[in-house]
Amino acid sequence: MMRAPLRIDLRSDTITKPNAAMLQAMMQAEVGDDVFQDDPSIHRLEEYCAQLFGMESALFCTSGTLTNQLAIRVHCAPGSEVICDALSHIFLYEGGGVAVNALSSIKVLQGNYGRISAEQVIESINNPNDIHQPITRLVSLENTMNKGGGSLYDFAEIRKIKNVCKQQDLKLHLDGARLFNALVETKETPKDYGEVFDSISICLSKGLGCPVGSALIGSSDTIKKARRFRKLMGGGWRQGGYLAAAGLFALENNIQRLQHDHQRAKAIGQILSTKSFAKSIYPIVTNIVIFELTENISSAQFVESMAQQNVHCIAFGKQHVRFVTHLDFTDEHLTKFEEVVKNLVIA
Ligand SMILES: Cc1ncc(COP(=O)(O)O)c(C=O)c1O
Repeated sequence: MMRAPLRIDLRSDTITKPNAAMLQAMMQAEVGDDVFQDDPSIHRLEEYCAQLFGMESALFCTSGTLTNQLAIRVHCAPGSEVICDALSHIFLYEGGGVAVNALSSIKVLQGNYGRISAEQVIESINNPNDIHQPITRLVSLENTMNKGGGSLYDFAEIRKIKNVCKQQDLKLHLDGARLFNALVETKETPKDYGEVFDSISICLSKGLGCPVGSALIGSSDTIKKARRFRKLMGGGWRQGGYLAAAGLFALENNIQRLQHDHQRAKAIGQILSTKSFAKSIYPIVTNIVIFELTENISSAQFVESMAQQNVHCIAFGKQHVRFVTHLDFTDEHLTKFEEVVKNLVIA
């Protein structure tokens, strides 16, 4: 039998499909109506997440955008301001949700590959006694940082930011869509993160391989409020336990293997570094590779030339391209990737 040509999809780590074992876990899930809080599989996942991070409670949701937005909505009253890096997902890619859902503004800072410092936070807090200024209420960090090329925070800096938040009575939220990618590269544990953040969003549908799902983790009070806002936004669901079972399976089985994705991302970086079209490559520490093309080639041209060879990636602006490694990108794919890049003709 003829084998289908190898398609390599490195557009995102969200493109993975459940394997047989994950599907089996989903098929066997015990379910109920979660709006009545009757779904045992969702309870199990939420309890697992809360315990993993040493926090009181968790809420299983459809997406990372929803969990981020719920956290921001809970922490910010209308007229508040959120501090974050200019490359943050909550600023660039959530449809202006901070303005729409929380009636609040964002102050963006220019960090180091998407990471802001405690010093920068101190300088950006508005004077609460100046009625012209929105009231700074929340600092939101992203780890790993997607648009920073999968960069990692130094946990010591996070602790410093936490101290500033404590002193200034600010909440601290983590967009941890890819937090487990950070955790497998560092010595911190989920509980270390649970100690410093007021809310944490994790995605199960990125590197961990679930078809759908994110969790918001925080205090009982935060999660109780988030559950109410989720319902109001139409995000209450019924027998979501089939998906929660996939989430639990992913947390139990797919975290340590993220290291392989990181190794393959580094290999991609090495392959690109041999090519004259690659002007510069962001430091590669997790599963994201962002590189800059020389001025004579646009990202659209590059993406199209690669697509013609059945290798898919995405343009990040006019000159930058992103590749993301994941569960369904194997050594066989890497070998083919190398061959394609080696022989690439950019039209
Ligand atoms: C860093 C980061 N945060 C949040 C999200 C949002 O996740 P979702 O696509 O599930 O809404 C993404 C999605 O790619 C992301 O990369």
